[in-house]
Amino acid sequence: MQLIDGKKLASEIKQELAKQTAALIDAGKRAPHLAAVLVGDDPASQSYINSKEKACREVGFTSSIYRLEAGISEKKLTEIIDFLNNDDEVDGFIVQLPLPAHIPVDKVISRIRPEKDVDGFHPVNIGKMVLGVPTYISATPFGIITMLQRYGIETEGKHCVVLGRSNIVGTPLSILLSRKANPGNCTVTLCHTRTPNMRELAATADILIAAIGQPEYVTADMVKEGAVVVDVGIHRIPDETKEKGYHTTGDVKFDEVAPKCSYITPVPGGVGLMTVVSLLMNTMKAYNGEV
Ligand code: GUN
Repeated sequence: MQLIDGKKLASEIKQELAKQTAALIDAGKRAPHLAAVLVGDDPASQSYINSKEKACREVGFTSSIYRLEAGISEKKLTEIIDFLNNDDEVDGFIVQLPLPAHIPVDKVISRIRPEKDVDGFHPVNIGKMVLGVPTYISATPFGIITMLQRYGIETEGKHCVVLGRSNIVGTPLSILLSRKANPGNCTVTLCHTRTPNMRELAATADILIAAIGQPEYVTADMVKEGAVVVDVGIHRIPDETKEKGYHTTGDVKFDEVAPKCSYITPVPGGVGLMTVVSLLMNTMKAYNGEV
């Protein structure tokens, strides 16, 4: 069994981006610039935004954060999006989700210029992804594809079972892994809440992606000997034995599943660390006008 080390990979990619940024600065150009819009004070969103800002600093990108009050009107938020759309010094930006209930998420996402939508959430970018046209792939799926690629994991001809059909993880991954591409060329089964025999299907997977949002749902009996297991879950479990008062676990019961795997991503230290790096890679693509 080999661990897919998200921490090491994320650090390597950040070093590559830092080198590219330094070369731009040496050539007298400006650094890539990622902006983020945060509405309200949701603690998880604040923490995501802080880690994005820190990652930008580490690679030499410029970052700016627009912190807006939870009660902001849709009109005002739209004006800020339009401002960022038209700012030539901003290469890409994200609107952190979730948004307060009075703001229509789909309208807000659709307002972002597709060329600046480094989250890859705009319908145009999702359409391009489905068609296999180069575009921004959203952070978590991009992070997972990058992990498979950099570890040289063969996907062609494999049976990939994806557990969970969310718009930002399960559904895009099922499409990406079935594309005529490398990584890709998998036969994909997408399981969801209405799949009656999820456990049996999971046990047939060469590559199992657990993005179901339930702590330690995937047990050893659901995993084929030699499978590649990618754990997308991040759950904080109250734990008085820990200084922080909790421990972190994924969607996979790691201790019993890991011995059966050829490769597995740990939690923490796996997929989660790749997501911010993916956003940075998308920002570099935006800077280079690749999308
Ligand atoms: N909220 C949780 N994950 C994400 C993400 O990847 N992008 C945005 N914009 N909001 C999120």
